[in-house]
Amino acid sequence: METERTLLIVKPDAVARNAVGQILARLEDEGFLLRELRMERLPKERARAFYEVHRERPFYDELVAFMTSGPVVPMVLEGPDAVAHLRRFIGETDSTRAAAGTIRADFGTDVQCNAVHASDSPENAVREIGFFF
Ligand code: RTP
Ligand code: MG
Repeated sequence: METERTLLIVKPDAVARNAVGQILARLEDEGFLLRELRMERLPKERARAFYEVHRERPFYDELVAFMTSGPVVPMVLEGPDAVAHLRRFIGETDSTRAAAGTIRADFGTDVQCNAVHASDSPENAVREIGFFF
């Protein structure tokens, strides 16, 4: 398995519920290596650009409003097959359907407020890491 880097963002809902430390601990316990970390408030245009791929989707404006509603914590994680590993580890998009024990099941609320973002391919991971770091 190839060593990869991927981007994770703790979203405003999880920051607001004081879960950043717990999420970081789970990622570290799972073996991901923390390579970059920051807290910031995303300007609206940055959030729009980050989720540009979804601009035609009905939830786009709501998603941008959510992602700018409070600070986020972007980070770079590294490990073998990190992109796919992290996607499995966070659980599926809708927190109400995510498998028990996943980050989204335990710290998210629904299909929008799902605690974390993770890159969905090695190509997008490179783009998204460059967007933040
Ligand atoms: P992410 O990009 O944040 O890691 O999430 P994902 O790949 O699992 O899901 P994606 O389809 O890329 O959706 C991006 C984010 O948009 C919000 N969403 N809302 N209201 C809705 O139906 C809906 N669907 C998606 C979520 O915050 C989702 O993570
Ligand atoms: Mg996505």
